[in-house]
Amino acid sequence: MTTPPPAEIGMALEDVDTPALLLDLDAFERNLDRMAKAIEGKPVKLRPHSKSHKCAVIGLAQMARGAVGLCCQKVGEAEAMVAGGVPNVLVSNQIVGRPKLLRLAALSKQAEWVGVCADHPDNVTQLDEAAGAMGTTLNVLVEIDTGAARCGVEPGQPAVDLAKQIDSATNLDFAGLQAYQGRAQHVRSYAERQAAADAGVALTRETVEGLKSAGLECEIIGGAGTGTFQFETAGGVHNELQAGSYVFMDADYGKNLNEDGGFFDDFENSLFVFVTVMSAPTEDRALVDAGLKALAMDSGPPAVADMPEVEFGRASDEHGILDISRTNRKVGLGDKLKLIPGHCDPTVNLYDWYVGYRGNRVEALWPIAARGMLR
Ligand SMILES: Cc1ncc(COP(=O)(O)O)c(C=O)c1O
Repeated sequence: MTTPPPAEIGMALEDVDTPALLLDLDAFERNLDRMAKAIEGKPVKLRPHSKSHKCAVIGLAQMARGAVGLCCQKVGEAEAMVAGGVPNVLVSNQIVGRPKLLRLAALSKQAEWVGVCADHPDNVTQLDEAAGAMGTTLNVLVEIDTGAARCGVEPGQPAVDLAKQIDSATNLDFAGLQAYQGRAQHVRSYAERQAAADAGVALTRETVEGLKSAGLECEIIGGAGTGTFQFETAGGVHNELQAGSYVFMDADYGKNLNEDGGFFDDFENSLFVFVTVMSAPTEDRALVDAGLKALAMDSGPPAVADMPEVEFGRASDEHGILDISRTNRKVGLGDKLKLIPGHCDPTVNLYDWYVGYRGNRVEALWPIAARGMLR
């Protein structure tokens, strides 16, 4: 069941009910423009990850600025994006089990282009069978492990062997390589982050060359996230970038460092959890109406926007506890505050609506259609 929106179009921001997921539309659009500008004229395209936003309206805004399509992590996410009008989706993940495989194959008949990743010969066989059963052809990328130690076959010959199997399957087209170095994204030091990304690029290059020698061309060589996209762009091997968080930023990405030692500020915070102070029992403590059920805490607590001196300490299910001992500002009952999520993706997955605002006025209510799409 979808919850009703916490706001109405035209409403003043302070009247929005809480907790609510706010999107500062000016900041969001600047982030979209900055990414488009960063890769302008470069031999890479953007295929942003929809697991960050789970919203076809945002996906279409990315495509309007040049993205070739979207990445999705789950079949349900891909279904929601296609239903919302996104024509081109790559499931940048492994899909296992007949019900999901059949849904994926069926989806490929509704969209212009559907792709998926594989890292095991048995999965390739299953993908081929599902595509055959649904009377379609699936585009399959070989995922290689470029240092993240997550999914993926070893770069080099194992990847070439799997690509050959895909290429010779009746109902599959070999579409290229998935080469995402997830572990590099949040490495704080610029030099160390670059080194981890560059090592991934080198393994990807070696694999692309091996594929070429075997007569296999990669239409897509995809990877990169918000933390490393500039390195894969400079690496000259990847032709699709999969950054997702750049549209919102979050407190965790804000801790990465730039080349000059300053905090990573290529993009700005556009996503906030709007909360109300529901109790202020002592001089140094205020409680807000958002706890573990309204905020993902896996990457640390949220930051309080415009009040770095206020610390979000503990959270219980429905309480967030603020330390207000170091602020001169009065934080009292009924005050509304904006929190910058610690980790944007799992925070978004807790809400049904983006409340888009410009200045002080609500301008958009966008459904988070793929929220909870775990299958
Ligand atoms: C396969 C893949 N590509 C891209 C990304 C994008 O990451 P980010 O949101 O850090 O930009 C992720 C995130 O985990 C991912 O799993």
